[in-house]
Amino acid sequence: MKSYQTIDDIRAAVQSAKQAGKTVGLVPTMGFLHEGHLELIRQSKQDCDATVVSIFVNPTQFNDASDYQNYPVDIKRDLDLLANENVDLVFLPNPQEMYPEDVPELKMSMPSLTANLCGKFRPGHFDGVLLVVSKLFQIVSPSKAYFGLKDYQQYLVIHAMARALNFPVKVLGCETIREEDGLAMSSRNARLSRKARGHAALIPRALNLVQKTLQDRRGRRSVDCAELCEIAWDVVESGTLNRVEYMDIVDPNTLEILETLVPDQEARIATAVFCDGVRLIDNRSIQF
Ligand code: PAF
Repeated sequence: MKSYQTIDDIRAAVQSAKQAGKTVGLVPTMGFLHEGHLELIRQSKQDCDATVVSIFVNPTQFNDASDYQNYPVDIKRDLDLLANENVDLVFLPNPQEMYPEDVPELKMSMPSLTANLCGKFRPGHFDGVLLVVSKLFQIVSPSKAYFGLKDYQQYLVIHAMARALNFPVKVLGCETIREEDGLAMSSRNARLSRKARGHAALIPRALNLVQKTLQDRRGRRSVDCAELCEIAWDVVESGTLNRVEYMDIVDPNTLEILETLVPDQEARIATAVFCDGVRLIDNRSIQF
């Protein structure tokens, strides 16, 4: 495994892999790796001849300065995990390398896909994600890139960006990896106290309860999404350390908020929850 800190060096390394006839997969990360990232890497290694993992805590996607400051970092541990997975190349730029102009002038946005869910509550967040991921696509030119579906809105937004800019990359979404009690794996889980960790487990339980409620209501002509969201909201906030930021049922392609579901309609329920101050997100597909 080789790691590089400059754009020129990672480009040269990728170039020589390509000249040797290898296909390249990219797994962009912000580090503090967990099993969810490792699954993306394993998928890339299965599909591609060479896998590049980037580790960069991207300042332009944090709309809250303290969230950026508190983002967990442990590069040594990350490099050990990556070596263990036999990753080929690691790209570890610093903020000056990625943004020599300090505050980048270029703005990217995908307004319709970011009007709801996290896009509504984290203004500018997806603009920063789009900017950094498009830069990574330019730098690495992967044939495939892997993203976790825990960040479902992020996956759709990046997918749409790659299409709009004609990047010759296949953007792939991989299933959320969960802890035994169902909590979606996230680097932020490391910031939860033992008590908060217990309350966080109510999030997947609430989302699963919505699917169960839909099953129980089969035979009806339609169901009211606000009512379903309220059920889930209450379950999450039965954990006194939890505060729901949003709980919405959306169209899985456009992310428009749905008011009712009719038989066989597919949808996605998505939520963001502050669990003792740590912002966690989760979502799942649901079907009536
Ligand atoms: O999902 C993440 O970790 C980040 O948003 C990403 C895609 C690496 C961009 O910084």
